[in-house]
Amino acid sequence: MSSADRFLLAGVMGWPVMHSRSPTLHNYLLARYSLKGTYVPLAIKPDSLEAALRGLAPLGFSGCNVTIPHKERALTIVDRVDPVARRVGAVSCVVVGPDDSLTGVNNDAFGFVQNVLQRQPDWRADRGPAVVIGAGGGARAVVYSLGEQGAREIRVVNRTFARAEALAREFGPPVSAFAWEERHLALDGAAMIVNTTSQGMVGQPPLDLALDRLPTTALVCDIVYVPITTALLADAHRRGNPTVDGLGMLLHQVRPAWKAWFGLDPDITPELRAHVEATIPKAT
Ligand SMILES: NC(=O)c1ccc[n+]([C@@H]2O[C@H](COP(=O)([O-])OP(=O)(O)OC[C@H]3O[C@@H](n4cnc5c(N)ncnc54)[C@H](OP(=O)(O)O)[C@@H]3O)[C@@H](O)[C@H]2O)c1
Repeated sequence: MSSADRFLLAGVMGWPVMHSRSPTLHNYLLARYSLKGTYVPLAIKPDSLEAALRGLAPLGFSGCNVTIPHKERALTIVDRVDPVARRVGAVSCVVVGPDDSLTGVNNDAFGFVQNVLQRQPDWRADRGPAVVIGAGGGARAVVYSLGEQGAREIRVVNRTFARAEALAREFGPPVSAFAWEERHLALDGAAMIVNTTSQGMVGQPPLDLALDRLPTTALVCDIVYVPITTALLADAHRRGNPTVDGLGMLLHQVRPAWKAWFGLDPDITPELRAHVEATIPKAT
């Protein structure tokens, strides 16, 4: 049966999932490609994650995305974990196989790099030190992808230093850990910074980071995408730094997900971005 004949069913599991724009994004594409199907938000409490994932196959789902706070736990539940998800230590997408088995993959890393390259085509990871703020699931995907792209120095700064240290130990050189009190110093001579914390997201305070020491040539990225222009990006823009927002990271993840779920490779067009962007506050 081709995907055109099947009813396509996928979703996003989170707790809560209210901030997720994945349903808007996937349902727009299903309509654009005239496919019969739907993509649903699934508010799954942490202690129900295993039962929910095991329910995907009997309910006829092709798969789902997993978001805060399920990404690391999903890794321990699925039947197979692909090498990128294993290295990152988090699953962002689950694929139901023809035998109803579950494979966990991580498309955050792919989405991050594709987004940066689309917005800043001349970007290269080996241009100078990269500073990653945060050490959670998003940070792990960003650190992995910067390493894959050839970064020679990655400084991880986190509020809980032990988590930054653990990440640096696990990934090894070129990753090093910085304490939260050192976050301003860590910007010295950086070629790029990436906020991967939840700070700056709607309902959260702005990221507490003064950019004074950051060269104005450094690329400033935020993986938070609600709002599109976080206080960090607004600050960076004011002082002349190039910036990349987090929405494209979400958009680009659709391609590997759709390939695995539906056998299709949709285009990530400016119209798609505009459609999703219209549902997101521009700034806090
Ligand atoms: N654009 C995309 O496609 C995409 C993909 C993935 C994630 N994201 C976004 O990235 C953000 C983080 O997601 P995640 O999955 O990495 O979450 P996570 O695993 O829960 O990690 C959260 C991070 O934020 C830090 N943090 C929380 N509160 C803080 C505070 N008050 N001050 C300083 N740091 C604080 C945490 O530090 P501690 O270790 O000290 O707790 C940790 O490093 C979310 O906004 C999410 O929506 C976007």
